[in-house]
Amino acid sequence: MATVTFNIWRGDHEGGKLEPYNTEISEGMVVLDAVHQIQAEHANDLAVRWNCKAGKCGSCSAEINGRPKLMCMTRMSDMPTDKPVKVEPMKAFPLIKDLVTDVSWNYRVKQKIKKFKPRPPDHEDGTWRMFQADIDRVQEFRKCIECFLCQDVCHVLREHQLHDTFIGPRQMVFNAALEMHPLDTEDRLKNLKEEGGIGFCNITKCCTTVCPESITITDNAIIPLKERVADRFYDPLKKLFRL
Ligand code: SF4
Ligand code: F3S
Ligand code: FES
Repeated sequence: MATVTFNIWRGDHEGGKLEPYNTEISEGMVVLDAVHQIQAEHANDLAVRWNCKAGKCGSCSAEINGRPKLMCMTRMSDMPTDKPVKVEPMKAFPLIKDLVTDVSWNYRVKQKIKKFKPRPPDHEDGTWRMFQADIDRVQEFRKCIECFLCQDVCHVLREHQLHDTFIGPRQMVFNAALEMHPLDTEDRLKNLKEEGGIGFCNITKCCTTVCPESITITDNAIIPLKERVADRFYDPLKKLFRL
């Protein structure tokens, strides 16, 4: 057991500040346990969103010592506890209260992405045949838990707040899951270039480094989508052919 100080951001969209709280940390605790303990001991009105406590619902996203992380998957044993542990809400989204942000923009953007449109079945019995390698390629993207940590860390949304022009890495992963699906026949490239703002991604790869599901967001989703957009809209030979 050791007493650890936590500086937790308290406030709402009108303003707030970091408040210090001391709590006892025991073996096996994660940051979310400590936040719950502080809530019980010192701050009953501390707002924090969580659900599964198993890294699977994507609800407990926050910034721990300045880094976007899931509170339920951040072990206290991995944190330096000789100085205060800072816990803040995600910065890329509007604040509701304390550690809770309004992430609904992500769902509104997702709704506008063209839906899965499979080709007709390959066989009379209504089934398709696919290569395992093609299935494996998109499987990675389906691991996304919609924690939006990648959206939070991306400078296009975080610093430049270009939510109206760039859909962010999470939605690039969703587009990639559909675009690269072996049965899909829909065409999302124009939307990716225009409404999606794929050109705003300058491949910093920060999104990939924070993903709790270890999805290779930049190399496996964004770069191949960028290549498809470039092939369609910027290939001089194809342009000539279209003329
Ligand atoms: Fe979270 Fe990774 Fe999905 Fe982004 S891609 S929302 S970081 S799980
Ligand atoms: Fe942003 Fe990831 Fe691109 S952090 S700039 S979407 S590589
Ligand atoms: Fe579900 Fe942390 S509580 S991911």
